[in-house]
Amino acid sequence: MERLLVTGGAGFIGANFVAHALAHSEARVTVLDKLTYAATREALDSLPGDRLELVVGDVADAGVVGPLVDVADAVVHFAAESHNDNALADPSPFVSTNLVGTFTVLEAVRRTGTRLHHVSTDEVYGEAAADEWFTESSSYAPSNPYAATKAGADHLVRAWVHSYGIDATISTCANNYGPWQHVEKFIPRQITNLIDGQPPKLYGAGRQQRDWIHVADHSAAVWQVLAEGRVGETYLIGAEEVHTNLEIARMLLEIFERDPGELEFVADRPGHDQRYATDPTKVRTELGWTPTHTDLSSGLAACVDWYREHESWWRPVKAGVEARYAARGQ
Ligand code: NAD
Ligand code: TYD
Repeated sequence: MERLLVTGGAGFIGANFVAHALAHSEARVTVLDKLTYAATREALDSLPGDRLELVVGDVADAGVVGPLVDVADAVVHFAAESHNDNALADPSPFVSTNLVGTFTVLEAVRRTGTRLHHVSTDEVYGEAAADEWFTESSSYAPSNPYAATKAGADHLVRAWVHSYGIDATISTCANNYGPWQHVEKFIPRQITNLIDGQPPKLYGAGRQQRDWIHVADHSAAVWQVLAEGRVGETYLIGAEEVHTNLEIARMLLEIFERDPGELEFVADRPGHDQRYATDPTKVRTELGWTPTHTDLSSGLAACVDWYREHESWWRPVKAGVEARYAARGQ
């Protein structure tokens, strides 16, 4: 593979994946990114520039996507609107980017026959039961606007494989944490609150469970599926680290050597899914992938250090993010 096109490659996971691809291959990487509020351009600035090109454009614009796909050997499609709370406030960009954007990529690869890997989320399966783990055969049951657009995109990919024989794979991953994640998301929000002397802010009673994976492990898994995944297959990616939000907040309080009771309970998210849990048996056994960040509390401690060291990156947007949350009672 000589030329890789990565949509959304200036976002949190996309940028970490681009770093992984450049470090593990000789490929030239073109990032197509609209540079929305969620983009982390600085993440790309630190990578080897001689094999990396950034094209600023909309993944839902066929005139932009087509020529880039024409010269690519493979496409990895990360571009999306990704934050649940934003989708609840205004679902419109989620429909255009997540659905129309995926449709646009699919039409381009249908024309060229280019290999595609589509990046999705375990949220497409909806809320897991108390002891349930999602598998590749779990039913799609998205319960919020973000998850519904991601589920719709997955269905488009599957239909294009079935109807047109495109060469595509899908991965649905658990919640990611690590460098360059926007401060609107749970873990960076709480880390930066703690840096600012504020308590972690938990929706409802903080009893919801999420399954956490380090972004470097997700990137490695996507790279492996791209290389060795079977056409038409979906691979679930996760590190089997299911914790309540309360437990994560307490781990962070411990890292900051703060009182474990120093918590603020805020308005819950409407329609909040109680639990996600992802069974990665297939990607482990079929492709031999295994996570390397297996100790969540040390992963979180490293993440805390990273946000301390990169305050100049997140500080300019922190107050605006908190003002939007405050307006919603969160
Ligand atoms: P992110 O919001 O940090 O980054 C998304 C990137 O896409 C940004 O750089 C943004 O500028 C770009 N983008 C948005 N709209 C675009 C458009 N119309 N055209 C071109 N670029 C556009 O998201 P993320 O957390 O890095 O997620 C990346 C992908 O991984 C998404 O598809 C998401 O659904 C999926 N995913 C995320 C998680 C998670 O925990 N964050 C978990 C599983 C799957
Ligand atoms: P989030 O990072 O938004 O990811 P997702 O909704 O895609 O799982 O939120 C993770 C969990 O943390 C989710 O249960 C909502 C909760 N949460 C809080 O309790 N407080 C917060 O300030 C935020 C942003 C999220």
